[in-house]
Amino acid sequence: MKEQIAAQLLAVRDRSLSYTDADDHLLVRQHSPLMSPLVWDLAHVGNYEELWVLREVGGITPLRPEIDDIYDAFKTPRRDRPSLPMLGPAEARKYIEGVRGRVLDVLDKVDFDDPNPLKSGGFVFGLVIQHEHQHDETMLATLQLSREPGLVSDGDLPAGRPVAGEVFVPGGPFTMGTDVNPWAYDNERPAHTVDVAAFWIDRVPVSNGDYLAFVEDGGYRDPRWWHPEGFRLGLQAPLFWTRDDGGSWWRTRFGRAELIPPNEPVQHVSWYEADAYARWAGKRLPTEAEWEKACAWDPAAGHARRYPWGEEPPAPGLTNLGHRAARPAPVGAYPAGASAYGVEQMIGDVWEWTSSTFQPYPGFRAFPYREYSEVFFGPDYRVLRGGSWAADPAAVRATFRNWDYPQRRQIFAGFRCARDASPGEAR
Ligand SMILES: [Fe+2]
Repeated sequence: MKEQIAAQLLAVRDRSLSYTDADDHLLVRQHSPLMSPLVWDLAHVGNYEELWVLREVGGITPLRPEIDDIYDAFKTPRRDRPSLPMLGPAEARKYIEGVRGRVLDVLDKVDFDDPNPLKSGGFVFGLVIQHEHQHDETMLATLQLSREPGLVSDGDLPAGRPVAGEVFVPGGPFTMGTDVNPWAYDNERPAHTVDVAAFWIDRVPVSNGDYLAFVEDGGYRDPRWWHPEGFRLGLQAPLFWTRDDGGSWWRTRFGRAELIPPNEPVQHVSWYEADAYARWAGKRLPTEAEWEKACAWDPAAGHARRYPWGEEPPAPGLTNLGHRAARPAPVGAYPAGASAYGVEQMIGDVWEWTSSTFQPYPGFRAFPYREYSEVFFGPDYRVLRGGSWAADPAAVRATFRNWDYPQRRQIFAGFRCARDASPGEAR
């Protein structure tokens, strides 16, 4: 297990360094007020590792206590981070490398059977590995906003297949969340029973082609479909989309313009856009509980699966995670990754907006710190599920919960629709 953790620490660091393998001016510049300069993320992941692994678990004297405030995400909002006296790119790389060397020493000595919950099962290493991968996904969003070409690698994905329509999920109780996953975050705990009424859910995420029909039907101009706050934003199309004079739709993807592929799941839409599309389509967004039941519940076995397809770790034939290519796979690309109910592409490709606001599960206990989840609970954030192509398998599972403001669209988010079953259908 310790060897596996060391390998994962190495892999995530290679990933972070590859996203910051660019000229210094691109690393220190703020590409959008929504995002930190890339060099902030880079040193922040090292500082987080120092706080949790070296100081909390290792009892090691602070290496650079004077920089703690600079890299505390709660002290300075992203828009103001360029004014911080941040470490420069070379200094940041040196700092995080120094931290990492000592982290490997702590890993070597720590007892995973220790009752301390940070040490038990290697939780603190799961915490920092997932944290760094989440920042890597954030860095990809920054690189997409920068519109700089040539910084992000692309790759091959399986072909799609024609698939559409809805899947029926019968009503009844299922187990939501987890007690047993050793690296699960506090907000995924505890496991609890939720009774869900019968519903229909789209077999695959809404594609660009589907979404374009909404755009071309004048959907953005019709307030009937919109939450009033979303309508007031005056949006016209997903972020990074433009229409040329001939009526063709293009997108900019990591600095390159390309025709929009109709069969790829739509991404870079806000919750407001997802909600409006669903209403236009005569449907609604799934609740978080509906999403998790359709994804993970195995009605024959009477228990939840770790992934839609079962317990097997994510593999290239099952799902599109871990930045294999810099885009979602076409709809229908992963029939082998279907859930017990036959719902496809729930894990990977795009984060999926749900109708739910971010709330604690019954019996929630903050761990290891209130600022991980608890301070975000409430009406302001909507929950996203399932991970995107830019999320790493280490930080995605059926119970994993992400959250963001409903107007955000720089994230790799799309959605699928659901609708109530009629009484006659409630088998
Ligand atoms: Fe962070």
